[in-house]
Amino acid sequence: MSKEKLLDMALNNKRHAEAGTMELVENIVKIPASNYFDQERWNKEVDLIFKRLPLVLGVSQEIPNAGDYKAIEALGVPVLIVRNSKNEVKAYLNACVHRGAALVEEGIGNKKRFSCPYHGWTYNQDGSLMGITSQEDFGNLEKDCNSLVSLPVLEKAGIIWVILNSESNVNMEKFLSGYDEMLELFDLKNWHVFSTRVLKGPNWKVAYDGYLDLYHLPILHSETFGKEISNQANYYEWGPHQRVVSPLARISSSEEGGVLEADPELPIEDWPMDMLMAGVWTIFPNVSIASFRGGGRSIMLSQLMPGETPEDSYTTQYYLMEKKPTKEQEVEAEKQFDLLEYVVREEDYSTGIKLQKSLKTGMIKDVMFGKNEGGGQCFHGWVDKILNTSDKDLPSLFD
Ligand SMILES: [Fe+2]
Repeated sequence: MSKEKLLDMALNNKRHAEAGTMELVENIVKIPASNYFDQERWNKEVDLIFKRLPLVLGVSQEIPNAGDYKAIEALGVPVLIVRNSKNEVKAYLNACVHRGAALVEEGIGNKKRFSCPYHGWTYNQDGSLMGITSQEDFGNLEKDCNSLVSLPVLEKAGIIWVILNSESNVNMEKFLSGYDEMLELFDLKNWHVFSTRVLKGPNWKVAYDGYLDLYHLPILHSETFGKEISNQANYYEWGPHQRVVSPLARISSSEEGGVLEADPELPIEDWPMDMLMAGVWTIFPNVSIASFRGGGRSIMLSQLMPGETPEDSYTTQYYLMEKKPTKEQEVEAEKQFDLLEYVVREEDYSTGIKLQKSLKTGMIKDVMFGKNEGGGQCFHGWVDKILNTSDKDLPSLFD
C-alpha cells in the first residue's frame, strides 16, 4: 500500500515536472509576525505542543541491543529510553522514585540494572524497583507500587517517539496518521548511525519553515546547492505530517557532484529508492528527514527543539547511512555532513536569526505564505489548531 502511494506521488510529481507546474493552494495566507517572538505564545507552544505530543527522541539503531539505553534531557525533562530483554523500547523519567536523583548521566550505554547513584536503589529494564538499600532501616515499602515513572513510547519505522507526559491520553499511532507506514519505506531500523551534531538556531518555527520550503532553494542556496534547481514543490499530508518534494525528484550528492535529478527517461518503477523517497519528510512538530548520497545512500534526520527563549532552538542532526561505511566512504560521508551542516548553519539559520530580529521590531505586522507555500500554511494551521485544543479534546484531533 505505502509503496503504491509512493509511486502515485512520483507519477503525480513527474506529470507536474513535464508540464512545468506544481500544486498550488487557494490563497496567500498571512500570519501575525508576533507568533514568532511573543513570549506567552512560545510558552504555550512548549507546553501544549512539545509537552503534549509524541516527539522523536532517537532512532532504533542508537539502542539496538537488549539493555541498551539512551538518557537525554528534552525541554527540561530527563528521559531514559531503554531496550528490554524482549526487544521492547521503554521510556521513563530518568529519576529514582526515592528522592528524584538521575539514575544515569546523559548519553548512550548498556545496563542490566539501573542503580541510583544517590542511595543505591536499583531498577530493572522494565522500570520495576528491585532493591532498596538497607530496607530494614528504611522501612516497609511496596516495591510493586514504586516503579520508575513511565512515559508513553512508540518505536516504528526505526524511529523512537516519546511523550514528555506520564499522564498523556494521546494515542501515538493515531497521531502518526499512517505516516509511519511511509517512513517504513526508508527501512531505518537497519541503518547505521554514522554521526550526530548539534547546531544552535533561531526560533523553532522560523527554522522549521525552512525545512518545508523549496521556494528559497535556488536563491539562498545558490552558492551551495546551485542556482539552476527548481523552486517548485508539491506537498503531501498525513495528519499534521507532510512530505515536500520537487516535481522533478532530486537529491544532493557529494559523490556525483551537486544535485542529482531523476532521469526523465526512466520509468518510475525503475527509479532507485532514494529518488522515490526524495524531498523532505517532516514529522510534526519538529523533525525533517532528507535523502543524500555521500559515502553511499544516506539520510539526514534533523530534530529541532525550542531553546531557552523564543529566539533560539537546538537542532540535532543525525547522519544515517544505509550500510556501515568503509574507511573511504566515511571520508565521503563526513564531507557531505560538513556541507549539510554548513548550509543549515550559515545559510538557513543565519538568515533565520536575522529575520526574527526584524520581526521583533514590531514594524512588520504579518508574514506571508504564498499559494506555492502550502506546506507552511498547513504547518502553522496545525500549530494554531493544537494550541486551541484542550487536553480532553486533543486525542480526537487525530481520529
Ligand atoms: Fe534552506
